[in-house]
Amino acid sequence: MKTTIIELDEIDSTNEYCKRYGRDENLIVIAKKQTAGKGTKGRSFISDEGGLYVSTFKNIENFDFSNTFSIMIDSCVAVCRTVESFALTPVVKWANDVLVNGKKICGTLIENRLSSGGVCRSVVGIGLNVNNALPDELKDIATGMSEQLKKPVNLAAVKKELVANLKKSYTVDDYKRYINWFGKEVILDRNGTKSVATAIDVGEDGRLVCFVDGKIERVSSAEISLRFI
Ligand code: BTN
Repeated sequence: MKTTIIELDEIDSTNEYCKRYGRDENLIVIAKKQTAGKGTKGRSFISDEGGLYVSTFKNIENFDFSNTFSIMIDSCVAVCRTVESFALTPVVKWANDVLVNGKKICGTLIENRLSSGGVCRSVVGIGLNVNNALPDELKDIATGMSEQLKKPVNLAAVKKELVANLKKSYTVDDYKRYINWFGKEVILDRNGTKSVATAIDVGEDGRLVCFVDGKIERVSSAEISLRFI
């Protein structure tokens, strides 16, 4: 299906734009800044000029619930490939954060609309730090492409690369190529209750496979957040 690309100077949130105006055509909505950017868990996402704020809107009638992980893989791998093509080394922090040198460079907010047949519309919002200044309180945990490369980055080139990569589909193996923490101890955070586990794999269904308290467990990103030790 044809994808229409919409570029905006300023918007409240590219995800909200998709939900307001997305109809039959697939959309990629890009904004130079957002005035009410949204993060996961109801948080706000500071979206100053210099970053890349992109949402994809797709109609995916009768898409089985079990395949929702593939929506996430497609955006996550697209971001990783984009960052990599600028000579950086991205790491996926399950489920869909992208880190460079241990700090978050990109966050993703997925808002699927469900019907009885499965997912029917998907909105995937990507906030990639490029040249934007980061707030002081995030400096220990977040980074941007220009900070990592120690020079300003051509935002138009990053945008072009990301849009091209978002038009492709990827596999779980493509996703796992950006994971370097299998075999390592991680913390599983279940609403504040933390346990230590050894990460083993990510299954085709998106569950994290890990070894915890002497047995194999498969945990879902809906119930667990991953923390590195
Ligand atoms: C997170 O890490 O908390 C997710 C951040 C997602 C931010 C992106 S920016 C483009 C899109 N529009 C939004 O309002 N949020 C997402």
